[in-house]
Amino acid sequence: MPVNIIVGMQWGDEGKGKIVDILSEHHEIIARYQGGANAGHTVVVNGMKFVLHLIPSGILREGKVCVIGSGVVVDPQSLFAEMDQLEKGGIKIGGRLLISPRAHCILPVHKSLDKAHEARGGQRKIGTTGKGIGPSYADKTARVGIPMFFLSDEKKLESAANSLLAVKNSLLSDFYSQDKLDPATLLKEIKSFIPRLLPFVGDTRSVLADGMRDGKNILCEGAQGTMLDLDHGTYPYVTSSYTVSGGACVGLGIPPGKIDKVIGVAKAYTTRVGEGPFPTELLDGVGAKIQEEGNEFGATTGRPRRCGWFDGPVARYAVEINGIDEIALTKLDVLDVLDKLCVCTAYKVDGKTVERIRDDVSILERATPVYKEFDGWNTKTAGITEFSKLPDKAKRYIGFLQEQAGAHISIVSTGQGRESTITGIPRS
Ligand code: GDP
Ligand code: IMO
Ligand code: MG
Repeated sequence: MPVNIIVGMQWGDEGKGKIVDILSEHHEIIARYQGGANAGHTVVVNGMKFVLHLIPSGILREGKVCVIGSGVVVDPQSLFAEMDQLEKGGIKIGGRLLISPRAHCILPVHKSLDKAHEARGGQRKIGTTGKGIGPSYADKTARVGIPMFFLSDEKKLESAANSLLAVKNSLLSDFYSQDKLDPATLLKEIKSFIPRLLPFVGDTRSVLADGMRDGKNILCEGAQGTMLDLDHGTYPYVTSSYTVSGGACVGLGIPPGKIDKVIGVAKAYTTRVGEGPFPTELLDGVGAKIQEEGNEFGATTGRPRRCGWFDGPVARYAVEINGIDEIALTKLDVLDVLDKLCVCTAYKVDGKTVERIRDDVSILERATPVYKEFDGWNTKTAGITEFSKLPDKAKRYIGFLQEQAGAHISIVSTGQGRESTITGIPRS
C-alpha cells in the first residue's frame, strides 16, 4: 500500500492529526498537500500535546521524512514558531523536512487583507482564521504571488514584490482606505526570513516520485475537510484550497493512478468553526454538553466550535467525492455522557426528502434534518483499545454510521492520546 491519503470528511477538526500520527508509524514519508497555518492538528504523545499547523504530523515519529507540497501556502513566521515549539519538545527537524519550491509564501500583507476583508461592513463574513489563506491563494491564482523558488533569485523576488504591491496598494488605499505599503519594506521583510527558510526548500516532487519507485509508503495529510473544499464545499463558506482527496494529487504532484487508499476521518458527531450552513447544529444544552466534553475550541484560533449530530448525507458525500475506502471514527468517548443520540439520515427541503448532497449546495441553508434516534450507552468508552470491549449500544451506533456513510469503519478513536485507539477493525 504505497500511497495513502488522509482526508477530513466534515468541516475540519475531525482528528486528522491524531490519525496521521497513528498511521505514520507504517509510512516513511508524510506529506501535507494543501492549506496553510489555518490548520491546527493536535497530537498527544505520552501526555505531551503538540499542535501542528504546517508541518505534517509525522514529524513526531523519529526518522520519518516530512514534505510540504506545492499546494500548501506557507507563512514563514508561523513555520518558524512551529519549528521552535517542536524543537523545545525534543523533536529534531533538520534533514527531515522538505518544502516545495512551488509552495507560495504568505506575507503579512495577506494576513492584513484577510482581516480587513472580514471586518468590512456589509461584507458577507466567512469567519476565516485570519491567517491570510484566501488572499495568498488568490495571488497565486492571479500569478502575482511569491513562490519559494523566487527567494533564491533576487531579481525575480524584487520584480514580484513590486508587482504584488502595485495590486495590493490600490486595494488597500482605494478600497479599504488604509495606508499603502512600501515595496522596500516588504522586500526587507521577505529577505529577513530567507536564511532560515531556504535550507528546507527542495525538490519534493522528485523525493515523492523516487519514494514511489522504491516502494516506500507515503501518507498524504489533508487539512480542513470535504465540506470546506473550494469547489465542493459549502461555498462561499469554505477555505481557498482543494481539501478533497484529488487535492493530494495536485498539491503534491502524485499521479492519480498511484493512490492506493483514501482514509476518511470523521467525528462521531459534527463540528464547524466559522460561518455557513450546518443542518445538524445543536443550539441547545446538548450542543453545549458536546462542546464541553469534546473540548471543542479551535486549535488555531481558540474559537468555540459549533456542535451537532452526525450527518449521514455529509458522510455519504465525503465517501463519494473522495473515494473513501475506510473511515477512522474519532471522539466516540465524547458521547459517553449522552442519554440519547441522533443521526441525520436525510434532510427535508421544501417539503421533499433529500438524501444526497447535490451541487445546489445552498439548499443546506434551509434543510431540516431527518433523525434516527439511539439510546446512549452511558458507560465509559474512553481509553478502550479493543472493539469487542465497546458496549453493544456503541457498536450498534458505529454500525449505523458505517451504513450511513457507505464505507467500512476500520479505526475508532476513544481518546486524545495515541494509545486510545482501536485499529484493524474487521469488516463484519
Ligand atoms: P484535526 O484538525 O482534524 O487534526 O483535528 P484537531 O486536532 O483540530 O481537533 C481534534 C481534537 O480532538 C484534538 O484536540 C484532538 O487531540 C482531540 N481528539 C482526537 N481524537 C480524539 C478522541 O478520540 N477522543 C477525544 N476525547 N479527543 C480526541
Ligand atoms: P483543520 O486542518 C476547521 C474554516 C474557518 C472558516 C473557513 C475559511 O484543523 O481541520 P480560512 O482561514 O481557511 O480562509 O477560513 O474555513 N477553517 C477550518 N475549520 N478546521 C480547519 O483546519 C480549518 N481551516 C479553516 O474557520 O470557516
Ligand atoms: Mg484542527
